[in-house]
Amino acid sequence: MAISHDKSNEIPLPIPFKIHYFRAKDSLFRIILNFAIVKMIELKDISKLSIEINKIRADFPILSRKVNGKSLIYFDNGATTQKPKSVIDAIDNYYKNQNANIHRGVHTLSQEVTVAYENARATIQKHLNAKHAHEIIFTKGTTDSINIVASSFGKKFISKGDEVLISAMEHHSNILPWQQVCEEKGAILKVIPINENGELIISEYKRLLTDKTKIVAITHISNTLGTINNVEELIALAHVKNIPVLVDGAQAIPHMSVDVQLLSADFYVFSAHKVFGPTGVGILYGKEKWLNELPPYQVGGGTIKTVTFEKTEYADLPLKFEAGTPHIEGGIGLAAAIDYINEIGIKNIAAYEHELLVYATEAILKIEGVKIIGTAKEKASVISFVVEGLHPYDVGVLLDAQGVAVRTGHHCTQPLMNFYSIPGTIRASFAFYNTKEEIDQFILALNKSIQRLR
Ligand code: ALA
Repeated sequence: MAISHDKSNEIPLPIPFKIHYFRAKDSLFRIILNFAIVKMIELKDISKLSIEINKIRADFPILSRKVNGKSLIYFDNGATTQKPKSVIDAIDNYYKNQNANIHRGVHTLSQEVTVAYENARATIQKHLNAKHAHEIIFTKGTTDSINIVASSFGKKFISKGDEVLISAMEHHSNILPWQQVCEEKGAILKVIPINENGELIISEYKRLLTDKTKIVAITHISNTLGTINNVEELIALAHVKNIPVLVDGAQAIPHMSVDVQLLSADFYVFSAHKVFGPTGVGILYGKEKWLNELPPYQVGGGTIKTVTFEKTEYADLPLKFEAGTPHIEGGIGLAAAIDYINEIGIKNIAAYEHELLVYATEAILKIEGVKIIGTAKEKASVISFVVEGLHPYDVGVLLDAQGVAVRTGHHCTQPLMNFYSIPGTIRASFAFYNTKEEIDQFILALNKSIQRLR
């Protein structure tokens, strides 16, 4: 797991600990000491979060609404997350007080909002620990970001007989753009297989990395299985052969700290709406050297230095990839969302959600006929499951009638459904505003639904 650059939650070591730590010659003693320190920090952080859960929930207006006469239990965070008031207010404020086009005006509003938009880019740069702000490109979302890379990278670097490597657990958004490029170029799409638990088979990955591999595109966390891939290791293995790696971080950004420099990711992409921000906006992080080498994906207003009818000179990063008026309020809203999660602390969030995952997994497994799909050792707070003899859709409808929102179906991962020979799953995906009490209610509702359908 990547380590955050965010030091806001670090607890300074007490002086006696420091002295003993540095005097400790014995490595076993160091390991025990480290473990104790980590546990102390975790306990402090988790208790802080559980104390504040009611305050956190109050920040999300939608969580107090009723659905079908019941209090909403929102367990569809993998599809989209709810928005805190600070994000809603940032967007509201933009339209009430700031609305103007950016990068174009000498007037006050345009200049103010240009600063706000570029500050948003800097917030995201800091959050990902990217080296430069111009390595952060605003896009329409994860799908758009992957399409940009597949198209531009494919145009310049992929030829007949080359190979593109993805995995068996990819979302359609990280399959189709590559499939299309391979069809256009006569290249071959190769797939890293997984085991029954939903973990990548690393020996197969190593075997599939060949001199023909031009790029690896891999998910950080599977939206269907919850598997957390060790992308640091996957990237390091690809880099031994000088192969660049794109990481689909759509499901990772809301749950864990990501440091693109530590990972050495060549491209890292995600959507704002999955991280408590607005829809229609997302991020493409790319290493400067790659973004400079790739041709623009779309061209138009904003992407140029000079234009004549004979020739156009394109703008430097990031504008080269940002054609047209962007989703200005989206960028500002995303920065407000990142500020919000950093106030809680992404490590606190990860620890709390892990508690929810363990609690819900134990409870679901007690129900007869239920099987969890995706049992990797490293998992995010996503539980996909099937109920023997029942269609996921029917269970989803009955849960909704009881106020519980889950996703049912193939989750845009049909090849994964084929691997498990199932039509779909019921998926409960948690965020830091969910509670164990909600999980208890969900289990009651699930038991009722199953009884009704049997
Ligand atoms: N990719 C989103 C999901 O997993 C839509 O639900």
